[in-house]
Amino acid sequence: MQRFTNPRDIYHGEGALEVLKSLKGKKAVICVGGGSMKRFGFLDKTKAYLEEAGMEVALIEGIEPDPSVTTVMEGAQKMLDFGPDWIIALGGGSPIDAAKAMWIKYEYPDCTFEDMCKIFGIPELRKKAKFVAVSSTSGTATEVTAFSIITDYDKGVKYPIADFEITPDIAIVDPELAQTMPQKLVAHTGMDAITHAIEAYVSTASSDFTDAPALFAMDRIKDDLVKSYNGDTEARARMHNSQCLAGIAFSSGLLGIVHSMAHKTGAVFADQGAHIIHGAANAMYLPKVIAFNAKDERAAERYAFIADYMKLGGETRDEKIAALIAYLRGMNDDLNIPHCIARYGADSYPAEVGFVPEDVYLARRHDIAVNAIGDACTGSNPRQPSVEEMEKLLDCVYYDLDVDF
Ligand SMILES: NC(=O)c1ccc[n+]([C@@H]2O[C@H](COP(=O)([O-])OP(=O)(O)OC[C@H]3O[C@@H](n4cnc5c(N)ncnc54)[C@H](O)[C@@H]3O)[C@@H](O)[C@H]2O)c1
Ligand SMILES: [Zn+2]
Repeated sequence: MQRFTNPRDIYHGEGALEVLKSLKGKKAVICVGGGSMKRFGFLDKTKAYLEEAGMEVALIEGIEPDPSVTTVMEGAQKMLDFGPDWIIALGGGSPIDAAKAMWIKYEYPDCTFEDMCKIFGIPELRKKAKFVAVSSTSGTATEVTAFSIITDYDKGVKYPIADFEITPDIAIVDPELAQTMPQKLVAHTGMDAITHAIEAYVSTASSDFTDAPALFAMDRIKDDLVKSYNGDTEARARMHNSQCLAGIAFSSGLLGIVHSMAHKTGAVFADQGAHIIHGAANAMYLPKVIAFNAKDERAAERYAFIADYMKLGGETRDEKIAALIAYLRGMNDDLNIPHCIARYGADSYPAEVGFVPEDVYLARRHDIAVNAIGDACTGSNPRQPSVEEMEKLLDCVYYDLDVDF
């Protein structure tokens, strides 16, 4: 038996944010990031709609990108003090993920971060509040997923919290919010979304229910992402839906080791002056992982099917997989994303010398490999890597080497 779970409601299309006017309740807390939602007027609109619904509104502001355990605990305390019956998470993956974790702690104040990280181990929520997620980036799809990614900065490691309990009650996918994204954010979140669709399609937990949205999403992202990056507003609006469909696919169909590696490399070099942004990490690692996973029969068939579905050419199965890899690498070039960590500049753009020095990388490689294998996303990857294979894969994504094992 498998399970396919989504939010009860997805409001989408222009004006979708206005549905907040019709919520029934007494108190709502809005969880938001560092300022973009305020700057572009979306925070004021959200607050006004909730007040129109007769609710008292409080704010939890300043949730940082790649939110920390501390941010979650502090936010949960504010929720406990205020007592909301609605939690409205507004912004990109970071504030929405942080709000999901705060929600758990709000409902169960004794729950520790370690308790939250037990996969599919969250107790029943919604005893105190329901959850609305309003996404402003076109990538993580956390507005529809059962996941939240929180960073433990002491360990330099990102931990996924995974349970259908934290799937939002309502997702709002309003294209207006995506129009203000700067170009770099479009690139990174868009590559995150296509990675979700491709990983979900080859995952060992995939099903008919997840294959359908995954294929539709990846094909449309192929048509729209570069256009959206170059300022096409209609493509930008379609991307907002496509990334959400990719989320519907991976929330139940799960992911693979592209994400395991991205989670375990994202913050681990923070002491060198930067993060490897989630979507950029996926964009660099996906072509290497496809080559690695293609040694698995079923995965190879599925990658070849993707290449056919996206009309990428190739006669034999190997040619089709090579075409898919070449296509994805070309996308990185179009979106100004490097191909490997050694060329990843502190500003995320391709650089002659990246921000992660080789000696630092080599010194941490083993631990990263062990952590990546232990990541929650590894279990559904088509091929289970040994520590040695994961170290070799990490070399391939550090130096941009071909995968031949
Ligand atoms: N829960 C999941 O299923 C899931 C899946 C993938 C990634 N993630 C996590 O999500 C996080 C990344 O989220 P993200 O990529 O959405 O970015 P983000 O939420 O970290 O936001 C990045 C920056 O973009 C700004 N921003 C957001 N929306 C904007 C808009 N419309 N206009 C202008 N600026 C805007 C924010 O203020 C912030 O400075 C990572 O921590 C990643 O690990 C979660
Ligand atoms: Zn992702």
